[in-house]
Amino acid sequence: QWTTSSIVDEQVARIREQVGDGKAICGLSGGVDSAVAAALVQRAIGDRLTCVFVDHGLLRAGERAQVERDYVAATGVKLVTVDARERFLGALKGVTDPEEKRKIIGREFIRVFEQAERDLKAEGDYRFLVQGTLYPDVVESGGGAGTANIKSHHNVGGLPDDLQFTLVEPLRALFKDEVRRVGTELGLPETIVQRQPFPGPGLGIRIIGEVTAERLDILRKADAIAREELTSAGLDRTIWQCPVVLLADVRSVGVQGDGRTYGHPVVLRPVSSEDAMTADWTRLPYDVLERISTRITNEVAEVNRVVLDVTSKPPGTIEWE
Ligand code: XMP
Repeated sequence: QWTTSSIVDEQVARIREQVGDGKAICGLSGGVDSAVAAALVQRAIGDRLTCVFVDHGLLRAGERAQVERDYVAATGVKLVTVDARERFLGALKGVTDPEEKRKIIGREFIRVFEQAERDLKAEGDYRFLVQGTLYPDVVESGGGAGTANIKSHHNVGGLPDDLQFTLVEPLRALFKDEVRRVGTELGLPETIVQRQPFPGPGLGIRIIGEVTAERLDILRKADAIAREELTSAGLDRTIWQCPVVLLADVRSVGVQGDGRTYGHPVVLRPVSSEDAMTADWTRLPYDVLERISTRITNEVAEVNRVVLDVTSKPPGTIEWE
């Protein structure tokens, strides 16, 4: 019988054995998985862990501040923030293929960690890289027995071949609900442990088409509105997550005030799920949908249509790319 505390004890022992007296870097994304992985490693090796938060410019509104404030307050972990916005945008320039985007983002993450490792050289040898990879990430990236590659999760199929780090992945056998229980056991606050999932490649895989700074701004505004309205309707725990997707290469004609518009649609993708391996589209109340739609089309000038994705997984995946 696996209890949460036995999972913690076993993983802490394994991390100690693997890392020995070495040092580790952990990329924090602001999401649950990396937060819990870091907390486990911190319990195992203490301040020989340094967390690196990469601002790749594909983040949602307020995310960087939340990590810098809440996570550090909760754990006291050593945190380095790297502003890599130009680097990621440059690498993604002209790219529209979803798998190519995922691989570029996975590779650039590693390049940033390698740079961080060189910058930390004076403090010692950071040979280990901690990742919050979960069991479903491994399976969907084609890592499980007899599974097809559905999409390359940035921290599995998106890793470069010449990886210099030894990976530490204490959550690799776990599902999200188990990870949340481990986080609670480790004393992480609800605001972190109960956060809805957000993919490492961030808004980069929620812009259908090329990722540009302007498009990111549009999507960030629409996403912030949807999140605000879902939170104020008390729906955060009902839905698993609600990606907002910008169809950047699609335009449609609209009318606003007395003028014609020719703007972009955004898609709301609310889903209910147990483990993200399968999902059902969430039947959101019409009044909530209406508020989100009205606010987005009023407040985000470039968006003139809000559409609802009513596809389950399968056949759709949760993210559009
Ligand atoms: P899909 O789109 O495959 O998503 O149905 C399943 C769950 O995984 C999240 N996701 C990711 N998380 N790196 C991550 O850390 C990734 O590359 C990635 N791709 C998808 C997605 O948000 C959903 O919760």
